[in-house]
Amino acid sequence: MKLLVTGGAGYIGSVVAAQLCEAGHDVVVLDDLSTGHADAVPPAARFVRAPITEAGDTLAEGGFHGVLHFAARSLVGESVEHPDLYWANNLGGTLALLDAMRTHRVPRIVFSSTAATYGEPDTTPIEENAPTRPTNPYGASKLAVDTALTAFAGMYGLAAVSLRYFNVAGAYTAADHRVYRERHTVETHLIPRVLAVALGLDDSVSVFGDDYPTPDGTCIRDYIHVADLAQAHLLALPACAEGTHTIYNLGNGTGFSVRQVLSACRDVTGHPIPAITRPRRPGDPAVLVASSARIQHELSWKPAHPSLHAIITDAWQALRP
Ligand code: UFG
Repeated sequence: MKLLVTGGAGYIGSVVAAQLCEAGHDVVVLDDLSTGHADAVPPAARFVRAPITEAGDTLAEGGFHGVLHFAARSLVGESVEHPDLYWANNLGGTLALLDAMRTHRVPRIVFSSTAATYGEPDTTPIEENAPTRPTNPYGASKLAVDTALTAFAGMYGLAAVSLRYFNVAGAYTAADHRVYRERHTVETHLIPRVLAVALGLDDSVSVFGDDYPTPDGTCIRDYIHVADLAQAHLLALPACAEGTHTIYNLGNGTGFSVRQVLSACRDVTGHPIPAITRPRRPGDPAVLVASSARIQHELSWKPAHPSLHAIITDAWQALRP
C-alpha cells in the first residue's frame, strides 16, 4: 500500500514507519520536526517536512491507500498548562487531515489514541467499552478525535481504527540494524528517566507518590514494547473496514508499580539508581492496566515481548554506545 505516516519522525511513528517499509509498503513520512528527529525517519521512506495542516499538499499527489496518524502533542502536564495547543494541534490538525483525506479520496486511517481517554477507571483491566472520562486536555483531545472518527465513518464511509496505547517503552532494531528509540527533548516517562540515572545523566529518580491504594503505594501501569505496539498497526491497516470505526486497547494486561519498574531497571543496568519519594503528580490514576482481549481475538495480535525485563533491556541497550 501507499501510506502516509504523520509524525513518522517521532518515537512510535518511526518504529511503525520502519516496520511498514520492511513489510514492503510505499511510505511517505510527514512531520514538522517540532518534537521528532529527521534522522529517525527510515531510509526507505520519503520524508516531507510539513505541519499536519498541510497534509493535503502531499495527499494531492494521489494514490494513497491510507494514513497512520501519530502527529500530536502528548505531554499530559503541558496539556493542562496549554490546552489551546492540544485542541488546535490534536483535534484541529486531525480535522484538517480528515478533510484532506476526503478531498483526495484516501479510504482508511489508523489513529494513535491513548489510555488517557479513559481517565480514572472503575475497574481493571480496562476494556474498550469502559466509560471515557479524561482527566486532562491531552486525553480529551484524543477522545474528541475518536468521537469524530466514529461520525466520519458512519457518514462518509471512512474506514478507521483507533489504537489506545497504554505505557509504551523499549526500542526497535530493524533488519538493517538501525535502532529506533525514545528521544524526547522533554522526557517525562518513567523508564527513560530511570535509565538516564543509570547512564549518569541524572543523580536520582523521583517517585511521584507512595500513598496510592496499591500494594507498595506507587502507581501501577501496563508497559508494552514499542515493537509489539507497532505490529498492531500493521494488523489494523488491512482490517480497516469501510464505514466502521473500531477501537482497540493495546497493553500486556499486567501491571507493574513504579517501585517494581525501578527494581527491574536496577537488575538490567546493575546501577543502584537512587530514588526519592515526592508528592503525587497531578492527574495520575492509581492503576491503568489494559484488557487487549479484543485485538487479540479479532486481529490475532499477540505481544512477542511481554516481559518488563525484556522491554527495559531493549531500551537500555539502545542507549548504550
Ligand atoms: N513516574 C515517576 N517518576 C518519574 C516519571 C513517572 O514516579 O520520573 C510515575 C508516574 O507518576 C506514573 C508512572 O510513573 O505513575 C508512569 O508515568 P509515565 O509518565 O511514564 O506514563 P503515564 O502513565 O503518565 O503516561 C502514559 C503516556 C501518556 C498517556 C498515559 C495514559 O505517556 O501519553 O500513559 O494513562 F496519556
